Parts: sequence; C-alpha cells; structure tokens
Amino acid sequence: MGYDILWKVHGILMGSSLLAMTTGIFVSLLRKGKKNTYKIHRKLGLIAAGSGLAGILTAFLMVQTSGGLHLSSPHSLLGITTVLLLLSTPLIMLLKKTRTKKPARRVHRFMGFTTLLLMVTTVLSGLYFVGILA
Ligand code: HEM
Repeated sequence: MGYDILWKVHGILMGSSLLAMTTGIFVSLLRKGKKNTYKIHRKLGLIAAGSGLAGILTAFLMVQTSGGLHLSSPHSLLGITTVLLLLSTPLIMLLKKTRTKKPARRVHRFMGFTTLLLMVTTVLSGLYFVGILA
C-alpha cells in the first residue's frame, strides 16, 4: 500500500480514536452515577487507545515505505507525544495494584482532558499537513 492510501487510513483511524475519546469523556460527565456508565466509558477508552495504536502503526509504515525520516515534522512530534499520553491514560486505571483509587482517578481525569486537547491539535495539524486545512 502506498503513501497516498496510508495517510487516509491513518487519518481515519486517528479520527475514530478522537471520536471514541470525546464520547468516552462525555459519557462519564453526563451519566455520572448511572448504571453501566463506567463500563461504557472503559470500552470507549480502550477503543480510543486501540484505534490510536493502529493509527500510529499505519503512520510508521507510511513514513517507512516512502523512505522518509521518522518523527521529522512538527505534526509527527506532536503526534508521538499525544499517542504516548493516549495509551497511558487508560493504563493508569487498569493497574490492578492501585490501592487508593481516588488519587489515580484524579490523575486519570487530568490526563484524559490533556489528551483530548492534544488530539484535537494533532488532528488539525495533520489535516494542515495534507493540505485539507491549508
Ligand atoms: C490524534 C491524531 C493524530 C496523531 C496522534 C498522529 C500521529 C502521527 C505520528 C506520530 C506521525 C509520524 C510517524 C513517523 O514519523 O514514523 C504521523 C505522521 C503523519 N500524519 Fe498523523 N497523527 C494524527 C492525525 C493525523 C491526521 C488527521 C492526518 C491527516 C488526515 C495525519 C496525517 C499524517 C501524515 C501525512 C503523516 C506523515 C508525515 C510525514 O510524511 O513526515 N495525521 N502522525
């Protein structure tokens, strides 16, 4: 698969990840205390992380097959920071040995909002990079 197709796959995967992330955050904000809220939030968080991971692998493949340099553009550097945060946000709550959940939840919430902000910025920079927002 060539660069021309891969950047579209990458964009769609990252867009889906952003959608799952946004929905996940809204679910926990708007359905506080309701049945299954945590389950839905957790599933959406994992979908966001999974889609983000698949998207990043596609980006790596796309740069590799085109003979380009990895992590050489502002979008790429912003993107790798965003993905690292995106993957560690659910991880902190999945750590089974977290004894007191309250501080972990506070960190998780802060990381979630920061990730969302970074994701929006990264998507915009990606769309700018491919000329859609130019
Ligand atoms: C949260 C959203 C996004 C993240 C985290 C992200 C992350 C990344 C990363 C880490 C790379 C570098 C891969 C490497 O150097 O091996 C990359 C490359 C790239 N991304 Fe994204 N991306 C996102 C959204 C988008 C969107 C929406 C588009 C456009 C539709 C896009 C277009 C591109 C293109 C064209 C490259 C290749 C850059 C090059 O050839 O140097 N990205 N992305």
